[in-house]
Amino acid sequence: MKRPSIPAIRNSKRRDGADPLVMVTAYDAPSARVSSEAGVDMILVGDSVAMVVLGYDDTMQVTTDDIAHHVAAVARANPNAIIIGDMPWMSFHVSVEETVHNAAKLIRAGAHCVKLEGGRKRLPMIEAIRAAEIPVMGHVGLTPQSMNVMGGFKIQARQAAAARSLVDAAKALEGAGCFAIVVEGVPDAVGRMVTEAINVPIIGIGAGPDCDGQVLVYHDLIGLENRFKPKFVRRYGTAYDDQVASVTQYASDVRSGAFPGADETYQANDELTEALGLYGSQPED
Ligand code: KIV
Repeated sequence: MKRPSIPAIRNSKRRDGADPLVMVTAYDAPSARVSSEAGVDMILVGDSVAMVVLGYDDTMQVTTDDIAHHVAAVARANPNAIIIGDMPWMSFHVSVEETVHNAAKLIRAGAHCVKLEGGRKRLPMIEAIRAAEIPVMGHVGLTPQSMNVMGGFKIQARQAAAARSLVDAAKALEGAGCFAIVVEGVPDAVGRMVTEAINVPIIGIGAGPDCDGQVLVYHDLIGLENRFKPKFVRRYGTAYDDQVASVTQYASDVRSGAFPGADETYQANDELTEALGLYGSQPED
């Protein structure tokens, strides 16, 4: 499968007959290789790496350099998927100049485009990044970088007025040149409404089945993240249990002497064995 182009993604509206877009959040070369072989359209190197991989309680603990480090790992796998570098908290809040430099850092690390959270407040930053010829994906609804303001990871747009203002924000992002928009953590009717109202693809996560595409975190969907399972996650595998079973078996084989066996050992030839005076010697108990 060939990597899709950003203009092709931009035109992927289901209402125009496009297939739903498939996006995965992944942070390293092995998961990028798997995702590419599985035929995903886009790999987001998300700031969720903070919580999923680095053990933090929120996403605000990672920097542009951290994301660039993971973007580079994904890019080295050369996946047939668009690589999206997630702009972390404080990388696009201080000034337009800093924002463009930070976006460029992710592009130089191997991303094809960037994503950033927020609505109208972010329009000058989005326009400046676009002016530097960098494609931008928007992100509205539950935006984890705003968790302290939102009072936690809370479903958004539960009231009609909030739903309408979310659609207005998405329209503004489209107007500023975003080629796609993530909508996270909203009721299904709001996911449907924003998907109908906007002319670029809406990628949902916890936004119901009517969006133009879906995104899940790799560790969630393969069942490697087993500490909690948000309602919107479907686990397609049992990676955590499988890996515990593998490492348990390895530990048992090491302790019993079953590993390594002859097949996993570089056997010394007779000459070396003799020169070392090891013929006939037996290991002591
Ligand atoms: O960081 C991330 O994984 C994300 C997705 C949940 C959209 O932003």
